[in-house]
Amino acid sequence: MTNDNPEQYDFVVLSNRLPVDRVVAADGTATWEHSPGGLVTALEPVMRAADGAWVGWAGQADLEFDPFYSDGIHIIPVTLTADEVENYYEGFSNDTLWPLYHDVISSPSYHREWWESYVLVNQRFADAAAASAAPGAVVWVQDYQLQLVPKMLRAARPDLTIGFFNHIPFPPYGIYSQLPWRKQIIEGLLGADVIGFQRVADAGNFARAVRRLMGYVTKTPLIEVPGEEPRTVLAKAFPISIDSSSFEELARRPDVQARAKEIREGLGNPKTIMLGVDRLDYTKGIGHRLKAYGELLSEGRLEVEDVTLVQVASPSRERVQAYMQLRDEIELTVGRINGDFATISHTAISYHHHGYPREEMVALYLAADVMLVTALRDGMNLVAKEYVASRFDETGVLVLSEFTGASDELKRALRINPHDIDGLKDAIVHAIEMPREQQAKRMRSMRKQVLRFDVSRWSVDFLTALRQSRVVPAVIEDDDDPLGELESTIDRIRRP
Ligand code: F6P
Repeated sequence: MTNDNPEQYDFVVLSNRLPVDRVVAADGTATWEHSPGGLVTALEPVMRAADGAWVGWAGQADLEFDPFYSDGIHIIPVTLTADEVENYYEGFSNDTLWPLYHDVISSPSYHREWWESYVLVNQRFADAAAASAAPGAVVWVQDYQLQLVPKMLRAARPDLTIGFFNHIPFPPYGIYSQLPWRKQIIEGLLGADVIGFQRVADAGNFARAVRRLMGYVTKTPLIEVPGEEPRTVLAKAFPISIDSSSFEELARRPDVQARAKEIREGLGNPKTIMLGVDRLDYTKGIGHRLKAYGELLSEGRLEVEDVTLVQVASPSRERVQAYMQLRDEIELTVGRINGDFATISHTAISYHHHGYPREEMVALYLAADVMLVTALRDGMNLVAKEYVASRFDETGVLVLSEFTGASDELKRALRINPHDIDGLKDAIVHAIEMPREQQAKRMRSMRKQVLRFDVSRWSVDFLTALRQSRVVPAVIEDDDDPLGELESTIDRIRRP
């Protein structure tokens, strides 16, 4: 299939956020910055290899940009008005769907005007994808902000092959059924040929919701969608990962190792450095982690001269009430713990409300003897995988919540239930005291998993499933297989 339109692409990815955010400083100067979150971390290397287009929002209201080329990726910006940022992004995406899909840790709000905005913005993304996709192209829609796009896109462009990947959990039916628009979301998703989830449990929850709400027949992992043209949709787990070898490469760099040493020295060379790295989000269990650590210090099971906790909490969704409140609570707790236990020469918690470049993150991973991932619910948690990929000398201990997708794969981590504060405290002490040979045994097995199942494997598996799922549609009047291009995309991802 030939495509002579240079503004159309054979492979298009859509996500709410672009890999770069437009950041305007107080003095009016604007720059492009790397945008936060695991989705971008995972997809960037895939997109560079695929030579496709990335459709998304630049992170600021009311800004219009022409498509541009950035660091190996064709960027197609979608504009959101200030009202849409409030209603579609901060409202429906992050104050309805996010808490609902994360086991209602915070109460979801249901507002009809937020829903209307969600529909409108999803349609805009679908229109942008329809305009930038070449005939027979593959469009891969990402995450909970865009769940209506697959159906909208199929209606406009039945020639396309459409994949959807949900980066966050899909909740059990008892929780999902609260959503007033629960049927519309399911219908939206079923517009895709393949729907990917992080965990087997998420795919199961989705299939159950389809049976209960739509009455469709499901034969795991397939869902029969009836209609004038009955279709079969594949709904299955494809656990996401990271560009593991690039983390190891960074960790092996002498300058990064020197920086790790500098970090340790800067903290007064304590016997143990523990590390937490999270977006400042109530799903991450940062408060539970601080509670456990504070109790260990107060009981004298840990001494501030021996242990420092470095907590990186990158700013996130700062205009959503629940996030503002969380920041106040966390920073109050950090202040209290430092006030109670720090000495002139030793801080209990070194707290950082910033994001850091990848080199600095890897230096932190190298400096940390213990990594604490205590999420109350997390689709995957790529930070856990980044830590493991960086520990090439096979030292270090990962304390990992069983409520993360990562814990399905990293079985040799010290797995904890973050709600069980006593259990968490014991695991922290166990991690600190773990002999090196035991650290190495565990780390070796986790590293095998993370290096083997990296992000390129994830995307190749997903795109191969997409390739196999789709019969060339009748609307394509061409002798060529419109999905042939996907084969070479998969090859390029495999061997970038
Ligand atoms: O991984 C979940 C996710 O919501 C992504 O969709 C998003 O890119 C990232 O976290 C950061 O969230 P936000 O774009 O709301 O800052």
